[in-house]
Amino acid sequence: MNSEPAATPPPVRRSTVFRNWLSLTGLVIVIGSLFSFFFLLLLDALAHFANPYVGILTYLVAPGFLMIGLLVALLGAFLRHRQIIRTSGPLPPLRIDLTRPRDRRLFGFFLAGGVLFLLVAALGSYQTYHFTESVNFCGQACHGVMKPEYVTYLHSPHAKVPCAECHIGKGANWYVRSKLSGTYQVYATLADKYPRPIPTPVKNLRPAQETCEECHWPQKFVGNLERSYNYFLSDETNTPFTVRMLMNVGGGDPTHGPVGGIHWHMNVGNKVEYLASDEARQKIPYVRVTELAQGVVTEFRTPKFTNTVDEASLRTMDCMDCHNRPAHRYQTPNTAVNLAMFLGKIDRGLPLVKSNALHVLTQSYTNDTQALQTIATTLSQRYPNDPRIRSAIGAVQEIYTNNFFPEMKASWKTYPDNIGHKDWPGCFRCHDGLHKTADGKRSIKANDCNACHTILTQGSGAELDQLSPKGQKFKHPGDEVEGGCNDCHTGGL
Ligand code: HEC
Ligand code: HEC
Ligand code: HEC
Ligand code: HEC
Ligand code: HEC
Ligand code: HEC
Repeated sequence: MNSEPAATPPPVRRSTVFRNWLSLTGLVIVIGSLFSFFFLLLLDALAHFANPYVGILTYLVAPGFLMIGLLVALLGAFLRHRQIIRTSGPLPPLRIDLTRPRDRRLFGFFLAGGVLFLLVAALGSYQTYHFTESVNFCGQACHGVMKPEYVTYLHSPHAKVPCAECHIGKGANWYVRSKLSGTYQVYATLADKYPRPIPTPVKNLRPAQETCEECHWPQKFVGNLERSYNYFLSDETNTPFTVRMLMNVGGGDPTHGPVGGIHWHMNVGNKVEYLASDEARQKIPYVRVTELAQGVVTEFRTPKFTNTVDEASLRTMDCMDCHNRPAHRYQTPNTAVNLAMFLGKIDRGLPLVKSNALHVLTQSYTNDTQALQTIATTLSQRYPNDPRIRSAIGAVQEIYTNNFFPEMKASWKTYPDNIGHKDWPGCFRCHDGLHKTADGKRSIKANDCNACHTILTQGSGAELDQLSPKGQKFKHPGDEVEGGCNDCHTGGL
């Protein structure tokens, strides 16, 4: 109604676009997150412990909030800008004149601020990169999910090798791939959608050539490795039984030693491929060997397998087909109890202690607390007046915590170990005498117990003084047995 124009409208300064609640909130968030970033950075640098949560806060949460704050501030400015245009017409064009002291000051301020921001961003993203690769992030941040893998890893010969060395390896390509699947994994963890147990084998694990072979030399000639296995029987007196053998590991490259033995499979001159009929790669009906120089191909099949072979589902054998538990080994109750008894942590003088320890470790429990309690009460009831049971209980509980993870349904039962043949098919997936060439004349070596290892001595007491360099026939404790070892031995026996 008042047509008279306002005297001179107060000049609209550009900076006023940030004078609104949204932008101010955004700026408060920016300042807050910058402050926490520096504070946490200091904490992370000064602390003598590695805490995955500090890492998450510093390198993921704080920069995240910084970004959110900046976006909110800009959004507020944008809305305010539109509002100003609507009410007071277009803003005066931006003019920077460095001859004006005010502009010079502002320009200097922006330059310094920009450089500082870039520095913080660079430091932040470098640290974020390292942090998401760290053992802490992989093993501990997700808490329950990776606990089984993390705990078994800490007890493995690779406890000092970062997870990423085996699971990601070198190169940007695999880094991006792993971050893509990792992002899904973080989502799955937060949304509680992850499988229990985590399935094995890992489908997209990087080929061994690019991970294990960064540190291990497959061409190296190993020769024979001596191994002693110390067992106790489940009888009244826990009779000891020992097997000492030479593992004929050998080598795969003629320039480093004779080609042969167990590492023959890694022979640089051959390629061994196989077909597995199950997801876990425990059933192998078809194996093919290609001698690369001559191009000779030899196929081995089990009698039942008459299908044609789908080339796409063949897998080339590598380290992981035998060493599939180099970092996450879930000991079977039998192996773990034998070891604890051999080390004296479980007193061998307690009658039937092997049998009782196996009994409590092979029951199913819903969680750690229930398991540890039941172990303690059951064992103390069985040996009511014997003080030696106290340390035995501690040892059995320790076995439980290091190898059983009921929340993730992870234990030796879910994760087969392919290195031997006692508790899982392992080598006998192929070396079972059933895999033959079409004419039936040649089969993959099987029944010769001294083909892969030489039994030097076995038994107990004075029997162990008899060494036979040529190898002895295996004397199974108790009766002669027939059949594959893992038909009877499943970890609890
Ligand atoms: C020495 C190499 C190595 C290191 C170090 C390593 N892993 Fe593994 N990991 C493996 C192999 C080999 C497998 C089994 C692959 C297969 O059978 O396909 C595996 C399997 C897994 C699996 C699948 C479940 C299973 O047990 O098969 C998870 C999850 C896993 N690792 C997490 C981790 C985490 C977390 C770390 C670090 C705390 C780690 N790994 C360190 C080699 C390694
Ligand atoms: C970053 C280096 C590194 C990588 C990668 C690595 N290892 Fe190892 N590995 C080691 C070290 C170090 C040892 C311990 C050597 C020792 O103390 O004798 C070891 C030991 C071993 C042993 C002997 C264990 C024992 O019980 O005596 C085997 C088998 C093995 N590694 C297999 C593998 C396999 C399979 C992979 C790939 C999945 C792999 N390693 C990846 C460094 C590595
Ligand atoms: C056919 C199965 C098989 C394959 C394939 C295989 N290994 Fe082995 N390896 C063995 C066995 C069996 C031993 C003996 C040790 C044992 O019994 O634990 C062994 C021993 C070793 C050792 C210990 C040697 C030492 O001096 O202590 C290392 C390291 C090793 N292997 C690395 C590798 C690497 C790396 C690859 C892949 C290039 C590989 N192996 C492929 C079966 C295999
Ligand atoms: C995927 C199938 C497969 C698996 C699993 C496998 N092998 Fe073999 N292995 C073969 C084939 C095929 C040959 C060659 C047979 C031939 O040429 O007559 C062979 C040959 C051998 C040889 C004789 C090498 C030489 O000197 O000529 C030894 C020793 C051996 N394997 C040990 C093992 C051990 C130990 C394991 C388990 C840790 C194992 N193998 C697991 C397929 C397999
Ligand atoms: C294809 C190769 C191969 C053949 C054939 C073979 N073994 Fe083994 N055996 C192995 C390997 C590899 C291991 C080592 C497992 C480990 O590292 O713990 C092993 C381990 C053993 C052990 C110690 C087992 C344990 O895990 O406590 C005994 C006992 C044994 N073998 C007996 C036999 C007997 C008996 C035969 C004949 C029926 C036989 N082996 C044939 C490869 C073979
Ligand atoms: C018919 C079932 C059966 C078969 C097959 C069998 N075993 Fe056994 N094994 C037993 C029984 C039962 C015991 C006694 C367990 C005890 O007293 O603790 C035993 C004990 C053992 C022991 C000592 C105890 C221990 O802690 O492990 C070893 C080692 C062993 N067997 C190795 C083998 C090997 C290697 C094979 C394959 C060549 C094999 N067994 C095949 C039933 C079997």
